[in-house]
Amino acid sequence: MADIILGIESSCDDTSAAVIRDGWLLSNVIAGQQVHKDYGGVVPELASRAHELNVVPVVSQALAKAGVKASELTAIAFTRGPGLLGSLLVGTSFAKGLSLSLDIPMVMVNHLQGHVLANFIRQEGAEDRRPSFPYLCLLVSGGNSQIVKVAGPLEYEILGQTIDDAVGEAFDKCSKILGTGYPGGPVIDRLAGLGDPERFKFARPRVPGLDYSFSGVKTSLLYFVRDGMARDPQFIEKNREDVCAGFQKTLIDILMDKLVKASAMTGIKEITIGGGVSANGGLRRRIEETGRRLGWNTYLPELKFTTDNAAMIAMAGYFRYLAGERTPLDVAPVSRLADY
Ligand code: KG4
Repeated sequence: MADIILGIESSCDDTSAAVIRDGWLLSNVIAGQQVHKDYGGVVPELASRAHELNVVPVVSQALAKAGVKASELTAIAFTRGPGLLGSLLVGTSFAKGLSLSLDIPMVMVNHLQGHVLANFIRQEGAEDRRPSFPYLCLLVSGGNSQIVKVAGPLEYEILGQTIDDAVGEAFDKCSKILGTGYPGGPVIDRLAGLGDPERFKFARPRVPGLDYSFSGVKTSLLYFVRDGMARDPQFIEKNREDVCAGFQKTLIDILMDKLVKASAMTGIKEITIGGGVSANGGLRRRIEETGRRLGWNTYLPELKFTTDNAAMIAMAGYFRYLAGERTPLDVAPVSRLADY
């Protein structure tokens, strides 16, 4: 009999549900939240209220699109953390209710594990290219920047991670400083494509080992723009694209430097990326160029699987389900979940 898994993701500001059958994606529905637009960032209380409104229609749509009845589901995978607690509570509580009413098991998933396994999502009609184990994943999002060694679907080792801010925060901060809106990543990505990446340079951190730091480069940008504006009030207007290009290049250089080191240290040439920042065009091009030069096999998730989505949660949940993992009903969501 087929294993049909419903995935539920509600860790931040996207309510998403997906259905997979024996590892093949049947549907993936995502409801974003416009309510945060005016605030320059996600407002946790508003996010959880929007999840409450969205979760039932999103799950219903995912089942309908998949052509699957709730009674046919085998298990429910849900994001336990990390994320905003109020948001996580909505998905977790919904999963519990459904699990009880259908009398099927729940499987909790670490959101980061979903990103790390995003390349395993299989879809009818799409190329099926999956990394072989062990592989390295550069996991880059609004909350994390890590290099993870993945020895098997459930075997993870964090080789390096940020000691302060995540790289996504640096993109968002850049956009805030330049007044180009939230979330910053996609805007900076687009503007960087129009500018000269060599004209402006920014400070690079010196962090030992494979760890990252992004707070210094954020401050370097802040002072650079502040000084520029003191000299010429039109500084941002005149130089926006070049600042974005130089800043994005600096962030990519920092990320790639450690990733290249991690590959050399481990001898692993199977390389993937995941998380919201893995949508960045400059980073994707650089990984492929570097990969060609160093003989890596690179795997880039489809853009729709880079940001938060339930397909990756269903996929990770499927691996956990196959490994025999079941989550008891008294589970609580956790805003900081370090262990995969
Ligand atoms: O993984 P994600 O959707 O949410 C979590 O943090 O879990 O990542 C969101 C982050 C934001 O900081 C956003 O600015 C960044 O991903 N991002 C990008 C791009 N698209 C989204 N950063 C750079 N370039 C992009 N194209």
